[in-house]
Amino acid sequence: METVILKINEDNISKMQKELDMLGNIIRGGGLVAFPTETVYGLGGNALDEKASERIYAAKGRPSDNPLIAHIADMSELKQLVYEIPDIAVKLADRFWPGPLTMIFKKSDTVPYATTGGLDTVAVRMPSHPVAREFILAAGVPIAAPSANVSGRPSPTSAKHVIEDLDGRIDAIIDGGKVDIGLESTIIDLSEGVPTILRPGFINRDMLENITGEVHIDPALTASPDEHIRPKAPGMMYRHYAPKGELTIVDGTPDNVVSYINDMLGRYPKEVTGVITTTENEDRYSCGTVISLGARNDELSVARELYGALRSMDEHGIEHIYVESFNGGRLGEAIMNRLNKAAGHRVVRV
Ligand code: TXA
Ligand code: MG
Repeated sequence: METVILKINEDNISKMQKELDMLGNIIRGGGLVAFPTETVYGLGGNALDEKASERIYAAKGRPSDNPLIAHIADMSELKQLVYEIPDIAVKLADRFWPGPLTMIFKKSDTVPYATTGGLDTVAVRMPSHPVAREFILAAGVPIAAPSANVSGRPSPTSAKHVIEDLDGRIDAIIDGGKVDIGLESTIIDLSEGVPTILRPGFINRDMLENITGEVHIDPALTASPDEHIRPKAPGMMYRHYAPKGELTIVDGTPDNVVSYINDMLGRYPKEVTGVITTTENEDRYSCGTVISLGARNDELSVARELYGALRSMDEHGIEHIYVESFNGGRLGEAIMNRLNKAAGHRVVRV
């Protein structure tokens, strides 16, 4: 299939109504359109059409028991998707929607099981990206969208990444430039008991607790993989966000980390080694492909650049990738969650 690629961004969006109508038609006809959001690019289809959801799974090569997030542009669209709207959801929506927060509700009968991976709950998010919002409005239906990558690969943070993975497999790609946040939304489960974080993201536990009071964290997120605790978000189970090369996280004092990595780099041909670091350390590595994510204290930059860096390592054919650890800070939990999954929990402490 030929994939149409359209550049639509904040600057030209007011002149793109014809194109947005065309994309809305594709969605209502059961087709698939990749679009930018403030977190990562999504692969969208009509959330109420089970055939569209099946096409999403097929295009990504994703197991069909891994549920999709339904994206809406207006609070009025929430009611048809969910069985009930808890008060806490109203408070969270007032504070964080539109934005990088996904909430899990008991689902209504309108949402097909194909979209929820067979679950009786549904994940809903209202993105803030202006192109995402206009696209959802043009479709006139809630948009089911996982990240627009082939299953298992790092999520796409630019249209180039989407094209690499999905060109020829979907109807259209909206190129809205680079995303802002670069990590997938925070997921909070409101379907039973105490609100529980199923996936950490830009909106962290403190920010949520300020609105809701006590928030739990899914025990599977902090358990070691040998404990075999099943995460409540099925997608958190799979090795994920992963580059093709073997990724190792190195944690310790800056000097120890640099000297350990330099030592390891020396053991392989330089063509197949790489380091993901920050501006402070980028000149301290002796060989291999060195990619900086920005200043260490600029967490927003580290988050935004991370997936692109993992993909670049693949492009360079790097087989042994070392990444400095990013514990602490406001986004540390979200960044380390993704890195740990990408590294299959391979961590060296030095
Ligand atoms: O930022 C984001 O959330 C991006 C953009 C496109 O919105 N989307 C995204 O979707 O990351 P995806 O499919 O890559 O990740 C969705 C996660 C998966 O881990 C899935 O298992 C979980 O959400 N999820 C979806 N519905 C769920 C449900 N009803 N119960 C538990 N987990 C659910
Ligand atoms: Mg994903």
